[in-house]
Amino acid sequence: MAESKPTHLEPSKLGTKAYWDALYTTELSTHASDPTLEGTVWFDDSDAEAKILSYLSPGSDSDSEHSSSSSSSSHPSPSHPHNLSPPTASILDLGCGNGSLLFSLRDDGWSGHLLGVDYSEQSVALAKSIAASRENEDLKSVEFKVWDVLNGPLSDILPPASGGGWDLVLDKGTFDAVSLSSETDSLGRRINEGYGERVLQLLKVGGIFLVTSCNWTEAELQGWFETSTAPNDEKTKLRMAGRIDYPSFSFGGVKGQTISTLCFEKVVVE
Ligand SMILES: C[S@@+](CC[C@H](N)C(=O)[O-])C[C@H]1O[C@@H](n2cnc3c(N)ncnc32)[C@H](O)[C@@H]1O
Repeated sequence: MAESKPTHLEPSKLGTKAYWDALYTTELSTHASDPTLEGTVWFDDSDAEAKILSYLSPGSDSDSEHSSSSSSSSHPSPSHPHNLSPPTASILDLGCGNGSLLFSLRDDGWSGHLLGVDYSEQSVALAKSIAASRENEDLKSVEFKVWDVLNGPLSDILPPASGGGWDLVLDKGTFDAVSLSSETDSLGRRINEGYGERVLQLLKVGGIFLVTSCNWTEAELQGWFETSTAPNDEKTKLRMAGRIDYPSFSFGGVKGQTISTLCFEKVVVE
């Protein structure tokens, strides 16, 4: 269990809403002129989406798949998040962008309640437009809402009847973006420090948080999320439950991965 928080990143324009609004305004108009162009899928070059789908798939042999010799990490093979059931699991994607990850999950047989949220109105407009143009009428639709992960009212997106929270919360690149913001919260902390608290409030006990990052190493992600506590609830924590293996690189004698995906479970601690 990690005990300390990592050092903050230098703020950049990717930490501003103006940056994302401008990007999705462009992607929205590109999509309007050519509906086959659906915008950026983050970490596509690392095949992140396919790896996430495979990791979540109940039929996958996670031990052999994720402990290959290309691993750059000393972490053990992951335990598989077996408690997730594709027909019923409720899934929330934080900072969903164009919604690509949720559409892929829907196509892969995840037929429960799927909701994507993003604080950029243009991103949600793009995701909704792609949803409307999807042809497969047999599949239940995916829902999208404008919602700020750090400040949006929880009651706006908590599922009504599922043990008080979501079964699976996803983040692909959103904690990265939030970590690049120079903004501080009411406690004077950089706003990314409150992210884990929000995730804890959104998940049911036993629920899974799967986060993918290009800015933080696995150890740093553990440092951020395992030290988080929800307000008025010291008893629940996020505990690392698995990881996804990506091809490693070597630079200056140090081995690393281009991106990291860690799986955390919301647990009750004594
Ligand atoms: C790197 S992009 C990733 C988009 C998408 N998850 C993907 O993988 O393609 C980061 C996303 O986070 C969203 N975002 C950043 N801060 C946010 C916040 N506080 N609340 C909601 N969304 C946020 C941005 O608008 C952007 O869509």
